[in-house]
Order: sequence, then C-alpha cells, then structure tokens
Amino acid sequence: MINVRNLIDPTDFSTDEINEILVLAQDMEKDPERYSNLCSGKILAALFYEPSTRTRLSFEAAMLRLGGRIIGFSEPNSTSVSKGESLEDTIKIISCYSDIIAIRHPKEGSAERASLYSDVPVINAGDGANQHPTQTLTDLSTIQNLKGRLSNLTVGLCGDLKFGRTVHSLIKALSRYSNNKIILISPDELKIPDYIKTEVLKNASMEIHEVKSLEEVIDNLDILYMTRIQKERFDSEDEYLRLKDSYILTKEKLRNAKDDMLILHPLPRVNEIHPDVDLDKRATYFKQARYGMYVRMALISKLLGVI
Ligand code: CP
Repeated sequence: MINVRNLIDPTDFSTDEINEILVLAQDMEKDPERYSNLCSGKILAALFYEPSTRTRLSFEAAMLRLGGRIIGFSEPNSTSVSKGESLEDTIKIISCYSDIIAIRHPKEGSAERASLYSDVPVINAGDGANQHPTQTLTDLSTIQNLKGRLSNLTVGLCGDLKFGRTVHSLIKALSRYSNNKIILISPDELKIPDYIKTEVLKNASMEIHEVKSLEEVIDNLDILYMTRIQKERFDSEDEYLRLKDSYILTKEKLRNAKDDMLILHPLPRVNEIHPDVDLDKRATYFKQARYGMYVRMALISKLLGVI
C-alpha cells in the first residue's frame, strides 16, 4: 500500500500543519499567478454523491487555478453506482484515473472507507451528519483573516447542532487553540451529539455552554456561526416543520451584538438569516465562501506534495 495523507477529520492535521495551510492560502490569494502551474499535469476527482454548490465548485475552481484538471460527478446515478457498484470498487477505479479525490457522501464514515481503498489522497468533502473538515479550514481561514487570531474567542454555534457536520468539525478544531469559549445555541431536539462533546472535551479543556436563546447570549459573542436546519436528515417532516424556524437572525436581533462580531454561515441558508442582514458590515458569509477556494488550493497542494 502506498503511504498517502488524507483529510477525513479536522484532527488529521496537526495545528502547525493547519496553520501552514492557512498561511499558504493567504499567499495564494495575494499572488495567484505564482501558483498557477503548481498542479500542472495533476487530476482532481470530485465525487459528489450529495448536492453541493460551494464545496464542489470551489474544489474544482481551486484545481483549475493551480493549473490542474478535474474529473468527477455531481450525480452518482449517472455512474455505475446506479448499476449497484460499491463505493469500494468505484474508489479503486477512480484512484487509477486521478491524483487526488474529494468525496461527499450522505453516509457517515464513507470518506474514511473510501480512503482505505484509494492509492491517492482522499479529502472528506462532507460525510452525512458527521464531519466537514474543508469547511472548517474555510471557517478558520475566515476567522484568522478577519479577526487576526484563532484563540481567545467566544464563539456561538447556532441552529442544527445535531445534524450540522460543519459544527462538529469546527468545534473540534477550535478546541485545539487556547482559551476559546463555545456557546451552543439550539433547541433540545437539535443539541450537539454527546459523542462529539465527549471527544472534544477528552482532548481539551475548552469552556462549553448550552443555551436555547440566541438573544440571551448574542452580546457576548466574537463570532456567531449560524447553521441551516438540515431538512434532508430528518426522519419526520412534521418534526422538521416544527423546528425549521427555531432561529432567524434579523437586523433587530443584531442590535445588542458587538460592533466587530463576525456572522459566519457555511451556507446554503434557507431563512435562518434574513437577507437584510447581508448589508450589515458584520455579515461575513459570502466572503467566507471565497476564502474556501484559496484554502482548498492550499490543501490540494499540500496533499499532492507539490509545495
Ligand atoms: N458549505 C457547504 O458545504 O456548501 P455546499 O453544500 O453548497 O457545498
């Protein structure tokens, strides 16, 4: 078996390695020409078994901006998956055709399974309700760029913390930096799973609080990370309909927030942030999506060993 690095979970890289990726991403944003042929001759396979706008297209844009090429699918039914081909067989084949694979899959653990059958690096682009480590790199890059630090932050994570894989990955990553405080804001039904809290607290002594009301805590926050209620992961439509409007951020609710609080959202949003908020200087979610492309350029380059 060839020894390759993968990114399946945000803790697969040391904090030093993550910091290196963030610095490289900043440089790639400043001087894109310098990196425009770095991945010449290399192929990224983007395998999306679940819908995506940002992750798939930013991976593809990242590889193209590095001078590489892309193959892949956004609809697995157009491939032999529809004839019953297993994930393992698909990955064995695609690792013959490509130099690096980004995979999104509705089933938790699929990216890790894929990595066991691949001869090339595998990047988890979201596995069910489990993890989304490249969104976390995007989030860290946004915070580092706009706040200038990844420690000494009070971060509110709001919405669907049960199914929200971006939150599961971000909380793990933030626990590795010093003196961060996390406020988990959700209804009881959408609280973060115990296994995530246990894993985070096993390795770090981060302060974590759980509340139901956003208004109660908004004045304390340096970062407010809003999330969508993940309709596609609910067993019951009635339950989704009951919970879908649990939190709607409006201009009025921002009145008590700090002047320099950042509002992040992995997107897509449905109605948890009112469009009026987009005009507020604290609204950072569209910029965040842009940082995602540079950080994926840096990640691809590191995993391919071309830098
Ligand atoms: N943030 C994110 O994962 O967005 P997409 O589902 O559009 O890729």
